[in-house]
Amino acid sequence: MKVLELYSGIGGMHCAVKDSGIPHEVVAAIDVNTTANKIYKHNFPGTKLMDCGIESLSAKKLDEMKIDMILMSPPCQPFTRVGKKLDANDIRTSSFLHLLSLLPRLNNCPKYILIENVKGFEESDTCLKLRETLRECNFAYQEFLLSPLQFGIPNSRLRYYLIAKRESLKFSFETSAEILTKLPEENYLKYVPGKSSTFQSSSENECQTEKTDVEHSSKTEDRHTENMPNDSSQGNIAMTCPICREQCLQTAGHNMRQITEDDSSPYPDCCPVLNFLENKPPEYFDSFLLTKKELKRFLVMDIVFPCLLKTTCFTKRYGHFMEGAGSIFQMSTNISNMEKASELKDRTQELKNRDDWSDEDYEVLSRLQLRYFTPREIANFLCFPSTYDFPEDLSRIQLYRTLGNSLNVHVVSALIQLMVKNPE
Ligand SMILES: C[S@@+](CC[C@H](N)C(=O)[O-])C[C@H]1O[C@@H](n2cnc3c(N)ncnc32)[C@H](O)[C@@H]1O
Repeated sequence: MKVLELYSGIGGMHCAVKDSGIPHEVVAAIDVNTTANKIYKHNFPGTKLMDCGIESLSAKKLDEMKIDMILMSPPCQPFTRVGKKLDANDIRTSSFLHLLSLLPRLNNCPKYILIENVKGFEESDTCLKLRETLRECNFAYQEFLLSPLQFGIPNSRLRYYLIAKRESLKFSFETSAEILTKLPEENYLKYVPGKSSTFQSSSENECQTEKTDVEHSSKTEDRHTENMPNDSSQGNIAMTCPICREQCLQTAGHNMRQITEDDSSPYPDCCPVLNFLENKPPEYFDSFLLTKKELKRFLVMDIVFPCLLKTTCFTKRYGHFMEGAGSIFQMSTNISNMEKASELKDRTQELKNRDDWSDEDYEVLSRLQLRYFTPREIANFLCFPSTYDFPEDLSRIQLYRTLGNSLNVHVVSALIQLMVKNPE
């Protein structure tokens, strides 16, 4: 399968097609972002990476490449909920519209197309144009709105996907004009950290549920306090902690969550956050700890700890914006620290002047040992393989920005497998 990866960024699509197990060759990748291209080249030195605008592609050039499959995530800013939603009038949409204008003119039209974008794209004029073009070029297609949470990955990232296939090839499932919110054949696709997403036997569908071999606290903390409140009625995510298999912080009803997004996918089957942490000595995380100034913003943070089953979407603003940019990790699992912080949260919410804080308040928060997830950990949530790596000369902010723009490799891999599957 000859694959063309457009808007290739750091190569999420490349990882996904690799993970899908389909014999393939990425014949070219195209992106204009220098940092993303540097990361792409570092990981895929053998792939032809074209540092040029997609508007420079012509029907002749595409025909010469003899492409079987196009994988692409066009820029999403023109369609995001919080943006201006300029849609087709946004200059950043013009390269995609150019591409759509080329498709009907191709002599060697690709057999498969996969597109990823934000939720909201499906309501745009650009999406109407996409559907119209696909029908004109005799593609059958199916649209989805999917979240990694549905695949057992504790990370919210609700996204629009479209898979298209030349009509003569036929999908393995009955397509629908509706946008599907789950895969027709879901059961093979639960994510297991460190395993390829291709068909797994049920015995492999297990994630690590013991804390033993991952160190993530710089102090030896009590993980469980005896005589902990046994109240499971306070909106807990699960009655029994999947790691502790008994009462813990979560089941005691304490959390510092701040979930503001609209991804309401169910997630009881998710692997805990623990499975996605880096296994490094405690001092490695020192530089990821929040500063005093950042701690002050704790009311808007979504704070998670190892046994929780959901993190919020990591965006390109992670690392310099607190609100809505992605979860913060709490290294301390000491319940007394947690209770004090919880009380502080209640008190602070009622305060008129939130700047009026004592040293004691800072002390309460600093005992939680709040830190950013590392770029590697975010790559883990996005299901990039452990062999995926970053060039050393890039800053942490550059890594967060490009990762935040990327995609969930496991979800796309599942969709690629579904797209190429023939009817039985
Ligand atoms: C949503 S990101 C895609 C991320 C990618 N799938 C990944 O895994 O990193 C969109 C990408 O499109 C690139 N881009 C935007 N406009 C472009 C254009 N006209 N030509 C080529 N690349 C463009 C951006 O630099 C950005 O990397």
